[in-house]
Amino acid sequence: MIVIGKVNDLEKAVDAFRNEGKSIGLVPTMGALHEGHLSLVERCRNENDVVVVSVFVNPTQFNNKEDLRTYPRTEEADKALLEKAGCDIVFMPSVEEVYPEPDTRVFDLGQVAEVMEGAMRPGHFNGVAQIVSKLFMMVKPDRAYFGEKDFQQIAVIRQMLKTEGFKLQIVPCPIVREEDGLAKSSRNVRLSPEAREAAPSIYHALTDSTQYAQNHTVAETQQFVIDYINAHPEMEVEYYQIVDGITLMPVNDWSDSDYIVGCVTVYCGGVRLIDNIAYKQK
Ligand code: PAJ
Repeated sequence: MIVIGKVNDLEKAVDAFRNEGKSIGLVPTMGALHEGHLSLVERCRNENDVVVVSVFVNPTQFNNKEDLRTYPRTEEADKALLEKAGCDIVFMPSVEEVYPEPDTRVFDLGQVAEVMEGAMRPGHFNGVAQIVSKLFMMVKPDRAYFGEKDFQQIAVIRQMLKTEGFKLQIVPCPIVREEDGLAKSSRNVRLSPEAREAAPSIYHALTDSTQYAQNHTVAETQQFVIDYINAHPEMEVEYYQIVDGITLMPVNDWSDSDYIVGCVTVYCGGVRLIDNIAYKQK
């Protein structure tokens, strides 16, 4: 495994592989790696000749300075995990290397970037588009791997692909959970013991709601999830929206779409957690 910090070195290393006719897979991450990230690396390993993983806490996607400052950074442990997972190239650049000049690009991401996370975290998805487009230009991967935990992020990146004309395959990967159902996240380490104990209720609310939805309306199901989670003193739902899995527009009726997903964000003891579940899968 090669660890690279410079954009030029990355481009040279990947070009050499590509010139040998090898397929290139990319897994973008912000580090503090856990089994969720590693499931993407494993899938990438199975489907490509060369596995490139980027580890970069991208400042332009943080709309909260404190969140950026306290974001967990575990570079040595990350390298060890990636080596074990069969990664070929780790790209771990500095902020100055990625952004020698401020990135002023504004992407046309349309409505998928305006709802839910887009409404709550202004500028977040533009920052994601900035870093992901830079990585796509540097690595020129055949495939890039993203987790469905960040469901809206995948829709936004698909939109960016269209407007920017990138020709590569986006591979969505299922959510990896703790044994008790909590979606694995780098932010879970911030949970107090009490908040950590309460947090699996997010997943229980979502899974129970798929049963409840069998004989209740969309609006009732939405309320069911909100009430279920808010019943915990530790937790407060920021939003729960049941949306079309492609357009991310709210659905009013279960017959509105053949792909329906519920997306939730919850403040759990002050830590912001996100999760989602499919009601109808294509
Ligand atoms: P990060 O939060 O580090 O996540 C990197 C990738 O791992 C994302 O595609 C995310 O959806 C996926 N992932 C995280 N937890 C997961 C889980 N429990 N199960 C499955 N996949 C999971 O998402 C980002 O970084 C950044 O926005 C990035 C795309 C790297 C751009 O900076």
